[in-house]
Amino acid sequence: MIEQKINTSFFIADLDELSTDEQMLVEKAQNILKTSYSSYSGFSVGASVLLDNGVTVEGSNQENVAYPSGLCAERVALFYTGAQYPNSTIKTIAISALSKSFEIKDYISPCGACRQVMAEYEEKQNAKIKVLLHSPNDKVLISNSVEDLLPFVFRSPFLKRF
Ligand code: THU
Repeated sequence: MIEQKINTSFFIADLDELSTDEQMLVEKAQNILKTSYSSYSGFSVGASVLLDNGVTVEGSNQENVAYPSGLCAERVALFYTGAQYPNSTIKTIAISALSKSFEIKDYISPCGACRQVMAEYEEKQNAKIKVLLHSPNDKVLISNSVEDLLPFVFRSPFLKRF
């Protein structure tokens, strides 16, 4: 038996250390979470995506009384991006969250399904996606690639047929 280790790298920054474009993207994530439809969890999430053409796309989580039918903010934003701008490259995604019932004190990490979707787009566009996880205390966790957030990602070559 051989133990193997994975190294991952990320950065913690103050919001005002980010570029103006990135600060604006975080602000868009914070603003769009106000459109969250999350009466079941009371947990609002906003995601904003910056494309290489300068366009931004925002999404918020949308819940449903049939719980699994809802969708996370990240996938709302990413799937809309895929549908509307299929040939654009995603540069950055910013994510921010707010709860009705408790104070969020730390970064909210995207769920596994959202990271899988981000990883797919990263592979499709053959360019890294920068991920900005905004914490309410205006600290930002920065990952320069989705790969760093999702070791053991399921990749298309696993489906040998493709
Ligand atoms: N949620 C997101 O929108 N993004 C995440 O990365 C994690 C969770 C949403 C799903 C659900 O509407 C609520 O937060 C509680 O899980």
